[in-house]
Amino acid sequence: MEYLKAEHVSFFYDSTEEGQQAQQVLRDVSMEIKKGEFVALLGHNGSGKSTMAKHFNAMLLPSGGHVYVDSLDTADESLKYEIRRRVGLVLQNPDNQLVASIVEEDVAFGPENLGIPPEEIRQRVDAALQAVGMAEYASHSAYKLSGGQKQRIAIAGIIAMQPDCIVLDEPTAMLDPRGRTEVMETIRRLNREHGITVVLITHYMDEAVQADRVIVMDGGEILVEGLPREVFSHVELLRQHRLDVPQATELLYRLGQNGCTVPEGVLNEEECVAALELLLKA
Ligand SMILES: Nc1ncnc2c1ncn2[C@@H]1O[C@H](COP(=O)(O)OP(=O)(O)OP(=O)(O)O)[C@@H](O)[C@H]1O
Ligand SMILES: [Mg+2]
Repeated sequence: MEYLKAEHVSFFYDSTEEGQQAQQVLRDVSMEIKKGEFVALLGHNGSGKSTMAKHFNAMLLPSGGHVYVDSLDTADESLKYEIRRRVGLVLQNPDNQLVASIVEEDVAFGPENLGIPPEEIRQRVDAALQAVGMAEYASHSAYKLSGGQKQRIAIAGIIAMQPDCIVLDEPTAMLDPRGRTEVMETIRRLNREHGITVVLITHYMDEAVQADRVIVMDGGEILVEGLPREVFSHVELLRQHRLDVPQATELLYRLGQNGCTVPEGVLNEEECVAALELLLKA
């Protein structure tokens, strides 16, 4: 059963300059994301990923076509609240997402706005901080945390609203390697253990390979989609569209180009090491 559904979506941004044509940013985009699925959305700068993300919680409405969240049509103004309750959006800059100086107050902000009773807010905040591995920081100053910790607090704030789905728009882009790992582990756990549907927009291929499915956008259209292994086997196609493939995939691809017999669809370091061992033995 699909949870998010985009049906022939087109989208134009109104031109800011007088007399200029509106810019088409999404072109007949159709995609379905199942409940509980973890999908990575990739694409070169300006390909329309963030615009697509904003369609999934009714921050933007399609110029043509439809977007459904849990079968609710985002174009129906009266459903906006229901839709925002179901889909939480996490953005790139953790600093811009902090709303209160103390961690637990920050996490409580969303549920407070939903009018949840105080006892339940307490429980939700505790559970959310637990889920992102930040329980011991409940009474700390949010501003003093590392980037990765701040981003986990932002995710906790979304989790406390008990959404079915979280859409994360380059949540690790401003983090150091350790922060990136922390956030990725958190995202994976929310998906696997809590069944939360995840859409992750990222420029990092090592993050994309962790998804169940990868959708690549280019010029406001879907270029290719499938299992990470399938998508990243299209090395040349991705290159033509100025996209990277995972390092391990790239290395074996180049060896293959130079006449070595190597397996296809290698995605990570372990698989790469195994393939290199075989190659050296041969
Ligand atoms: N508010 C806006 N008004 C006008 N044009 C916009 C606006 N936001 C984005 N655009 C344009 O829409 C296109 C798609 O932008 P979008 O932000 O969706 O791309 P993206 O894939 O998220 O890129 P990035 O990887 O850089 O985040 C770009 O050409 C961008 O310049
Ligand atoms: Mg973007």
